[in-house]
Amino acid sequence: MIDSLLEEWAELSTEFKDLEAVNKIYTDKLEELGGFQNNVLKQLTHQKYRLDQVSKSLKDLKKKGGTKEQIEQLENDILKRKIQLEGIEQTLPKKNGIYLRIILGNVNVSILNKEEKFKYKDEYEKFKLVLSIIGFILSLLNLIIIFRPLELSHVFLLVWYYCTLTIRESILKVNGSRIKGWWRLHHFVSTVAAAILLIWPENKAWGLFRHQLMVFSGYISTVQYLQFRYQQGALYRLKALGERHNMDITVEGFHSWMWRGLGFLFPFLFIGYFFQLYNAYTLYQLSFLPSATWHVPVLSAVFFFLFVGNTVTTIMVIPNKIQEKMLLQYNIMSQRLSSQFLINDDTESDSTKQD
Ligand code: COA
Repeated sequence: MIDSLLEEWAELSTEFKDLEAVNKIYTDKLEELGGFQNNVLKQLTHQKYRLDQVSKSLKDLKKKGGTKEQIEQLENDILKRKIQLEGIEQTLPKKNGIYLRIILGNVNVSILNKEEKFKYKDEYEKFKLVLSIIGFILSLLNLIIIFRPLELSHVFLLVWYYCTLTIRESILKVNGSRIKGWWRLHHFVSTVAAAILLIWPENKAWGLFRHQLMVFSGYISTVQYLQFRYQQGALYRLKALGERHNMDITVEGFHSWMWRGLGFLFPFLFIGYFFQLYNAYTLYQLSFLPSATWHVPVLSAVFFFLFVGNTVTTIMVIPNKIQEKMLLQYNIMSQRLSSQFLINDDTESDSTKQD
């Protein structure tokens, strides 16, 4: 018995030596990677600095009135280079912002691989979808049944949901998402609003508002489903656009799909914003009730704030999207160029190996 055990142990020890050897290569490569990262960062900072200098000189030249065509060409090249540098920056680890530092500490949340970035964003959209379905069901149940623990469970879920969104969105931001500051602030403010709803005592004002709140919540969950369809479509199409082999989809095609998507979504969004305004108005009226606590006027102000912020930001999406087309074209081009460069590099190194 002991003999067979010793034999097994000897076999395991040989395997362990292999493991040690592989681990040594792995740790060496990790160190090497750190060196490369520092090198890329140094060169990137240098490029950015020189690019700034060139941009400033070009501005001066423009004032003095240089050759128009050459200036325009150089401006285009600078814009293109800025996008390329942004792409390179995305492959480097980044420091956490203050919010993530407070919540998570200094743990590294940078995702350096494009596929993993895509997966994280996809997961974020799916998380929102699942939670909006649960939110929709809870809103319906609360409309049918009046049961305090059920109300509180629904509102508590909202506090947790919005709080989680703020963390996930901060991680997305670190990883290069162009999500606008307002949507992140919106989710912070929504966390506060849900927390106030949670501690609002069960008084007459609450009784008068709860039905409207549940209808609003159900409506928002439906709009969130439509947003999910749009965002998911955009995510997959943009991914396909960036892929070198995929020529089925063009920037023009993407833009016409996007405008159709936005045209469908906008009416539902604006109805939602008017619902927020209506909530603010109802709560303002309820704040005159003798039994109304501080929660009522504060929530009225919060709903009004969300109405204004959402309306302005969503309207601003239209001019932004019109300007964005050229940037998108450059972005896709540089993505394709960089993947082509990597593929060429791979084939070159493969043929060198074969030689
Ligand atoms: N929440 C989270 N992320 C958002 C977002 C939102 N409301 N709106 C846009 N983003 C993200 C996009 O996914 C994109 O991310 P990426 O850089 O990682 O790819 C980035 O921000 C830039 O998006 P942008 O090009 O500005 O807009 P879009 O075409 O993706 O979406 C709207 C435009 C109007 C459809 C979208 O902003 C939206 O749905 N807004 C309404 C939200 C709302 O009102 N919610 C409350 C309902 S009452």
